[in-house]
Amino acid sequence: MPNKSLVTLRVNGATYEVAVRPHDTLAQALREGCGLTGTKVGCDLGTCGCCTVIADGRPVLSCLTLALEAEGKDLRTIESLARGAELHPVQEAFATCGGSQCGYCTPGFVMTTVSLLEHEPSPSRERIKDAISGNLCRCTGYVKIIDAVERAAGRLRAARAPADHPSLQPQG
Ligand code: FES
Ligand code: FES
Repeated sequence: MPNKSLVTLRVNGATYEVAVRPHDTLAQALREGCGLTGTKVGCDLGTCGCCTVIADGRPVLSCLTLALEAEGKDLRTIESLARGAELHPVQEAFATCGGSQCGYCTPGFVMTTVSLLEHEPSPSRERIKDAISGNLCRCTGYVKIIDAVERAAGRLRAARAPADHPSLQPQG
């Protein structure tokens, strides 16, 4: 294992020991070391957003993050979202609104959206545009993606509503 060292990555609640070179990116470690190929690599230069994952609650570009830097962080990838055949509301919204066509950019947009809506449940369209400005899509024209983020926000707010309003909880 010349020039490689073992790094421990916590991804989607599981622990992976991955042998990496000093210059290996988190994207490489996730895809080749952990077998989590849902994270895509487009430009490999920090310009397209395809490789976005969530680290300690915030979106990061995994092509610009060294694997060694990611040790100790709570990492989440697109594989963390669906529950079996049940899509996460953000994934469902992208599918329903036509926010995914060739799909190559979609994991990055979805992870950016998940992080946005965890911090800001009711973003305006302008705020959504700002939040996804680091993600590029050559297929959709973006309107359907913004529609999808709005739909997902509505679904997530509705899902949270009973917890936010105890009076709406079913009475035993
Ligand atoms: S692959 Fe990371 S930003 Fe394009
Ligand atoms: S759906 Fe093809 S690049 Fe976005």
